[in-house]
Amino acid sequence: MENAPLIDPFNRVVNYLRLSVTDRCDFRCTYCMSENMTFLPKRDLLTLEELDRLCTAFIGLGVKKLRITGGEPLVRKGIMTFFDAMSRHLDSGALNELTLTTNGSQLHRFAGDLVKAGVRRVNISLDTLDEDKFAKITRWGRLPQVLKGIDAAQDAGLRLKINAVALKNFNDSELFSLTEWCAARDIDLTWIEVMPMGDMGEENRLDQYWPLSDLRKMLATRYTLTDLPDSTGGPARYVRLEETGQRIGLITPLTHNFCESCNRVRLSCTGQFYTCLGHDGMSDLRGPLRASDDDAELVAAIRAGIGLKPKGHDFDYSRQDIQGQTQRHMNHTGG
Ligand code: GTP
Ligand code: 5AD
Ligand code: SF4
Repeated sequence: MENAPLIDPFNRVVNYLRLSVTDRCDFRCTYCMSENMTFLPKRDLLTLEELDRLCTAFIGLGVKKLRITGGEPLVRKGIMTFFDAMSRHLDSGALNELTLTTNGSQLHRFAGDLVKAGVRRVNISLDTLDEDKFAKITRWGRLPQVLKGIDAAQDAGLRLKINAVALKNFNDSELFSLTEWCAARDIDLTWIEVMPMGDMGEENRLDQYWPLSDLRKMLATRYTLTDLPDSTGGPARYVRLEETGQRIGLITPLTHNFCESCNRVRLSCTGQFYTCLGHDGMSDLRGPLRASDDDAELVAAIRAGIGLKPKGHDFDYSRQDIQGQTQRHMNHTGG
């Protein structure tokens, strides 16, 4: 059937699309990019109209959650036009959620417009509340600018979630201060295990890796933890801290593989279709998109891609060696 739902070879329904609208970013986080990255030539990017057509095709095939990522999505020129256009799918009820993951640097400019486009919740990457450490980990980022963005987003009525990559000898000392800061501001907090995406040269993942099983034990020394059945449709599992009532998300690709319940696929800004974050395998949707104004070829290519979705990633540090590393850096598909 032309618009039957997307079901992969392992019987998983795909209803969550993550679209990277640019591979560029105004930060250079050390675990994500090398300092001298080469970016895609601008002429290779799909236009905003083409991105609209692609997303609309996926929504027609049962995608209910659309997350815009990058690089940093808010540095793509004209991006609000795209959000405005996508809001029609919220109005029609075809889409349940339109959202984004951002480094927060441009939120002070866009928070109000995002709300107008129907965005209700935003995930912000923030690994430390220490200005010097922030400058070190992001290389080019400045903490006060991100805090200004967070204030603007909350003032505009957006619900916020902070994503922190758990890094040994970096933000382990901030576990409690970050928790308390989020509690005081009524912001959700999710921790992510560092994944071996792209060769970083100077950074050693094994030295950085702070397993969330250890983070959880540390949290339990101060708080009573209750596992929650909640799901936001993403990979995080949640616990409640009884003393503060706050919800903490844990994304554990290494210590607890969640691939069996994976519902997501990713599109790059050039129309490359990645069905797994942990594999370099992809198929091209730009060709079929441009081949005809009719979507039949595109839909066939999407279904063919879904038919190749792997069972899961092969990330593994357990042999004191890095297994499953991808060639591509995280900014290519935005996490
Ligand atoms: P919510 O809607 O708040 O649940 O968001 P989300 O967790 O789906 O999105 P977010 O952009 O905040 O993702 C957080 C991080 O989780 C990503 O940047 C990745 O690092 C990681 N992640 C998301 N999906 C996958 C996945 O399929 N596999 C792996 N290994 N990691 C993933
Ligand atoms: N491992 C885990 N998370 C990462 N992110 C970027 N690179 C990595 C990595 N190697 C996170 C960012 C952001 C999200 C898009 O992905 O911190 O929250
Ligand atoms: Fe940019 Fe996000 Fe990568 Fe940091 S993690 S460099 S903010 S894309």
